[in-house]
Amino acid sequence: MTGPRNYGYTDTLEAEHYATALHADIHDGLTSTPKSTAPTWFYDARGSELFEQITQLPEYPLWRAELGLLQCHATDIAARTGARSLVELGSGSSTKTKLIIEALGPAGLRYIPVDVSADALHQASTQLVQDYPGINLHALRADFTAPLVLPELPAHGSRLIAFLGSTLGNFRRSTRVPFLRGLRDIMRPEDFLLIGADLVKDKHEEEMISAYDDSQGITAEFDKNLLHVLNRELDADFDADAFDHVSVWNSAESHIEMRLRSRVEQRVKIRGLDLAVPFGPGEEWITERSAKFTTDGLRGEMAGAGLRTDQLWADSDAGFALILATAP
Ligand code: AVJ
Repeated sequence: MTGPRNYGYTDTLEAEHYATALHADIHDGLTSTPKSTAPTWFYDARGSELFEQITQLPEYPLWRAELGLLQCHATDIAARTGARSLVELGSGSSTKTKLIIEALGPAGLRYIPVDVSADALHQASTQLVQDYPGINLHALRADFTAPLVLPELPAHGSRLIAFLGSTLGNFRRSTRVPFLRGLRDIMRPEDFLLIGADLVKDKHEEEMISAYDDSQGITAEFDKNLLHVLNRELDADFDADAFDHVSVWNSAESHIEMRLRSRVEQRVKIRGLDLAVPFGPGEEWITERSAKFTTDGLRGEMAGAGLRTDQLWADSDAGFALILATAP
């Protein structure tokens, strides 16, 4: 960054964080059976752009469902929390956050977007301080899957931690409660946690599947963007045409799996890892898991983490839920 910024910025990650985490995850993930890697690596500039396109697809209603819920309930959220500090985990483009910021009142509001991507933070922060000149913004580059330290928060007043977009669904069931407990541990009695979660549509399996396999092929491109990221960052030689994108509903785990299916038998060289990865014909590599929740399940997981559900709003066709919780 050059020139003055009118927002604060703290980077808690070492310069090598991205490379170290990428190397470890891809090495472990592609030497396991079945092959399975973290969804984190989709989001370079191209991947973030493709995700923005996904949010506008007719087959992907969750983004709009959450937007609609926030439009209906942001005022209520502001009234219930009275928060003067807002922390957002995985802030990305901050589009929906604006609804919460406006309801809380931007003048003098402390806003802390937390993300691993310095670019995403700077882009969103620059825009937000322009839109809300009175906002007190401090961007935090951190990995929120690790224990969070929030050094830039005022000591007093209610804080609202927002974790939107059903990103909670990217955690495996066994890691969700420990993750939520980690958040609970940094909350005080006057603080609130707001979570957006996509709900399971039992009788509409096809709709859940096509949300991750749209007719325009945007999600397929998003999935295969992982191959381009690995080619660039790890000097690999993946051929995107040698894989098909697949979306599968795993009912036992209650999640959608995106997979890349090898069309042929092949060996892919990943020079940056000094690794050759064999793929059998038809072999499937899990590139993302997106859990779908029940409202009871959500309440249960919150309780398991020591959080009390204060309010749960679901949209009229129970497609999506917002949960507001406290840490009593
Ligand atoms: C941003 C992780 C919530 O799982 O629905 C969209 C990402 N992947 N289409 C999701 C995604 C494929 C999205 N999350």
